[in-house]
Amino acid sequence: MAGLHRLLALLALALGTVAVSVAEEKAKDADLRRLPCPDPHDISPCVCTADEQHSMDVDCSQVESEDQLARVFSSTIPFPQFHALYIDGNQRLKVLRRGDLGPASFELIHITGGVLEEVQEEALSQSYPTLSHIYIQENNVSRFPFAELPLFTSLVYLQMHTNSLERFPGLDSDTLQQVVLSDNPFGEIPLDGFQRVKNLYSISVSANDVEILLPGTFTDLPHLHYLHLDSNQLTHIPAGAIEFSGKGNLHLQSNSIKSIAIGGITGVNAGHIYLARNSLVVLEEDVFRPFLEGGATLDIDDNPLGCGCDLAWLVTNSYFMALTSPAASCYDGELLASLDPAIYVDLC
Ligand SMILES: *[C@@H]1O[C@H](CO)[C@@H](O)[C@H](O)[C@H]1NC(C)=O
Repeated sequence: MAGLHRLLALLALALGTVAVSVAEEKAKDADLRRLPCPDPHDISPCVCTADEQHSMDVDCSQVESEDQLARVFSSTIPFPQFHALYIDGNQRLKVLRRGDLGPASFELIHITGGVLEEVQEEALSQSYPTLSHIYIQENNVSRFPFAELPLFTSLVYLQMHTNSLERFPGLDSDTLQQVVLSDNPFGEIPLDGFQRVKNLYSISVSANDVEILLPGTFTDLPHLHYLHLDSNQLTHIPAGAIEFSGKGNLHLQSNSIKSIAIGGITGVNAGHIYLARNSLVVLEEDVFRPFLEGGATLDIDDNPLGCGCDLAWLVTNSYFMALTSPAASCYDGELLASLDPAIYVDLC
């Protein structure tokens, strides 16, 4: 009799445990299914989360194929207005196909660190009015519907660095403010490359094997404040190539720049010019003095400066020297800061 009681007690305990864990599972599911997100089973392996403002993010990083992505977005999606789509570190998805995102629209698209090669025409068409930020960096993208950019009427940020764009894309947008195209193999920036994106305040075209800048490429952009042209193969900045408005941050480090024409760079004012790791032997007064008079800082570390009389205007002016990078040196390693100005006064 005592044995039976014990058995029954154990049984009750076991049943109780099962009941509790089932309830826990249900509670978890209920958590996930919270509206406005779709049913988690319908969109698996994508995961939807919503915040208190009902802003929904969907993470499809685990998606296994184009077809699976298409199935996810052809399921029942009661509220297709998502905030963000994330597909990060995915090693399967090569093409974002037209229609695969179904009725879903996004404000932010983040497809990074994967093997994406192509975004098809109209693949993002549901997001024409909503999309403000596109992050498709660190993939292998060689095809993207740049011709549709004018249709993205909220687009402010386009980041496509570290991809396989063989040709400079046609950029045409009244809203775009920031574009990052660094680390693509296109090699040339056409003269009109940025002339239909007048609202840009930041441009990054670093590490694109660019050898030549055409006069007028970075002018007539009334909001331009940041320009990254570092790690290219530039040797010369011609007159009228780069024009900032108000204040400029110009990254030209790690090129092979030997010369800058008078009027090659204008409008920097109290900004910053980075020219480290180039091939400057002389710093002509007519070119460089206007930068420092405008209050810009000048980073010229690691250039083979001859430190002859062409530097007299700089080393005899302590205000200009204070704006020059303290590690700037002559070809033989002598710091500019330790040159004796009296020599330049006496001999130049
Ligand atoms: C990148 O895409 C091209 C096709 O555009 C393909 O031939 C190449 O193998 C891809 N590279 C990598 C590293 O996946």
